Amino acid sequence: MAINVGVITISDRASRGEYDDLGGPALKKAAAEYGWNVAAEALVPDERREIQRAIREQARQGCALILSTGGTGVALRDVTPEAVREIATRELPGFGEIMRAESMKITRNAILSRSLAAVVDQALVICLPGKPSGAVECLSFVVGAIPHCVEVLQETPTSC
Ligand code: MTE
Repeated sequence: MAINVGVITISDRASRGEYDDLGGPALKKAAAEYGWNVAAEALVPDERREIQRAIREQARQGCALILSTGGTGVALRDVTPEAVREIATRELPGFGEIMRAESMKITRNAILSRSLAAVVDQALVICLPGKPSGAVECLSFVVGAIPHCVEVLQETPTSC
């Protein structure tokens, strides 16, 4: 299934141009390797409203899967989980559980990530860590469940 994917980088510094966005391109490459179609991209600071706006915009554009990278950690500016939960109709805790459990085999800091997945409108939103290799690794741990989840959500409109 050629899933339409939106990619969102959430980073104060990358959005100010203080460093290059490496996470977005890494996720785009991974998505293409899974055979998906990257249909939208965004780069936003760690601000709830901007994160929410970017997700809603990509869902409105028809992205069935939205992958974000960044803002899942413990720093006070990390607000991705809070932003997503405010606009989600439901959370899918299994994604975060598996991402953390598998990542702990790679780095002990994985326990600091509040990675999650949730449903916004009809889109599956997966919030991945900010480190590019961590984002791609975490996606690989949950990729098996994505096609079925996307299919169900696209068939069954959810109500807010
Ligand atoms: N998960 C994997 N698989 N690989 C990683 O390198 N980095 C961790 C963690 N999860 C990492 C990982 C680190 S160092 C942090 S601080 C948290 O994700 C949160 O990252 P974020 O705040 O950039 O989203």
